Order: sequence, then structure tokens, then C-alpha cells
Amino acid sequence: MRRRLLSLAALLGGIALTPLQAAAQGTLNLYCSVQIEWCQAIATNFQRDTGIRVNMTQRGSGETLAAIRAEGQNPRADVWFGGTGDPHLAAGEENLTQAYESPNNANLQPWALTQWNQSGRRSVGVYAGAVGFGFNTELLARKNIAPPACWADLLDARFRGEIQVANPNSSGTAYVIIATLVQIMGEDQAFDFMRRMHPNVNSYARSGTGPIKAVARGETGVSLSFVHDAVTERNAGFPVSYATPCEGTGFEIGSMSIIRGARNLTQARRFYDWALTEPAQRLGFEAGGQLQTPSNRNAPLPPNAPDLSQIRLIEYDFAKYGRAAERRRLIERWDREVGALPR
Ligand code: F6P
Repeated sequence: MRRRLLSLAALLGGIALTPLQAAAQGTLNLYCSVQIEWCQAIATNFQRDTGIRVNMTQRGSGETLAAIRAEGQNPRADVWFGGTGDPHLAAGEENLTQAYESPNNANLQPWALTQWNQSGRRSVGVYAGAVGFGFNTELLARKNIAPPACWADLLDARFRGEIQVANPNSSGTAYVIIATLVQIMGEDQAFDFMRRMHPNVNSYARSGTGPIKAVARGETGVSLSFVHDAVTERNAGFPVSYATPCEGTGFEIGSMSIIRGARNLTQARRFYDWALTEPAQRLGFEAGGQLQTPSNRNAPLPPNAPDLSQIRLIEYDFAKYGRAAERRRLIERWDREVGALPR
């Protein structure tokens, strides 16, 4: 009788489970590296759909990789959802995640499966987004500053103290920006560029979305951000616009991985399959206001979301820049040559 009750509850999905019923479905420990609204939406909806209790921790991509490394012998998380693709690739190479093939792979965009193949089937793409410039239209107009159109513009004296970008130790966004500059300019020239941009940077934020939120609040004129995050702020009513660099730009394949040694493997696979479905992928926009390009081919591009096919994207070398040693080397070089510069 009790079993019949439980399966009925699972079927009805939307009906709240009693604690005893929820316990029977088990628990999922989720590390989440998208914005908190989306993390909360997936935790709530997955729990409602399956009866599996979700413990969710939200952190940036670099911070999550550091946590997963530190917990390597005694993993606390089952699944890592979202965050830029490079640290997921690094985690796979370090054997911190495990291979899985979802039946829902059949519905995914080719780039989502490229990530899956490149990671040795350990990470799959859940969304994509391009790097660009976010800016506060009112603030720039008041100061009579023309917004940036090209990477080269960021060195202009008109942006003195006006730009914000994140710190690559904690933020995957910031690492994608460094890797993008290196791929466009060459490594030494890219570091020279970042050193010359430093006087124009007022702070290196912890989270990748920190700078665009500062733009929205009018605390800084310009941010280096994923452009979908600029639209999220504009939709929330702030005077924010964006541009993508004339020289071309990099992009992310936001990813998902199951942690090696996950204690709740059945629940982890269930979540992974669920997160690749069309209804789950609609949640990013519908419940979280997020505007990335979904990896499920049947999930629509949210209204006013940046259309990646209209942006001049570079052929981002995920295999190279997702390598753990390369990532570490570039971030250490950034720490020495850019992060340590006096203000
Ligand atoms: O959730 C917004 C977002 O820009 C994602 O597209 C991206 O994967 C994530 O933030 C990166 O966050 P962070 O730079 O803090 O690691």
C-alpha cells in the first residue's frame, strides 16, 4: 500500500510529499554555478517533479572546481550544474567527475555533445553564451562617454576607472575572457593588453555576474560579461545595453557533470536526465530570468536573448583552454602580472 502511495505521489509530481515519502526518494547534493534564481528554480522543480530532496550550494565556476578538488577523497556533491565549460573539462581530466550517457543526449545541440565527447563523456553542455561588454547607457551618456565597440577601445583614457571585470580565480567568466584575449591577440600581447587596461579597471569582482550588476546599479559604466547577463539586467528595468567586440569574441558551453564517487548516483543520473529535458531548460528563463542559449534543441531561445549566430565568435579552443595545467598557468600568470598591479 505504501509503495502504491509513493508512486502515485511521484506521478502527480506537483503534490507536496510528506517527509517520509521524500526520504524514500532520497537526496541529491547539487553544486550550482548559474545565478541563484535559476539554481533555486531547478532545485524546487526537480524536487517537486521527483520527490528527491535537493541540497543546493551556489558558487562561481572557479570556486566550485576548488571545492570539488578539496573534497576529491570524500565528495560532498553528486552533480555540478552550470558554470563555464573549461573548469568542468579540468575536473574531468583530474578524474573528479565520471562518465555518463543520458538517453536525452539525442535531443541536444551539436555543441553540447562536442563538450561531452571532448570531456571523455564526463560533462555535457546545458547552455551557451558569448562574452561582450555591458554598459549603463544613462551613466555613460551623463559622462559623455561613447560605449566600447572593440577590445581595443577598452584601453582608451575615457574609460579610466570605469570598467569592471571578475577575478579568474573564482570566476569562470573571467577565465573565458582571458582565454579569449589570448586566442585573439597571442599570449604575450593579451597580457600586455590586460596590464594596460588595469588603470581603467576599478575592481576585479568575485563573481562573473558581479560586474554587470554593478553596471545595472550605476556603480560602474562598463563590464566585461556574458552578454545574456546584460539582457537579464535590462529586463529587470535597468538602463543596460551591450555590444560584442568588433575583433570577435569567445563563448562558453555552460556544462553539467556527475561527481566521481557521488553518494547518490541514482538520483544524480535522474537529475542529469531531467536537466536536459525541454521543460527543465525552459526554467532558466521562465523561473530564473536567464537568457543563455539552451542545449535542448526543442527549448526555445528566450525572447530578446542574444542570438549567437549573429555574433562574431572565435573558434574557441576548448580542448586547450579546458586543460587543467593550462588553466592554472594562465591564472597564475594573471595573478602575477595583472592582479598584483598596484591601484
Ligand atoms: O549564470 C550566469 C553566468 O553568466 C553563466 O552563464 C556562467 O556559466 C556563470 O554565470 C559563470 O559564473 P562565474 O563567472 O561566477 O563562474
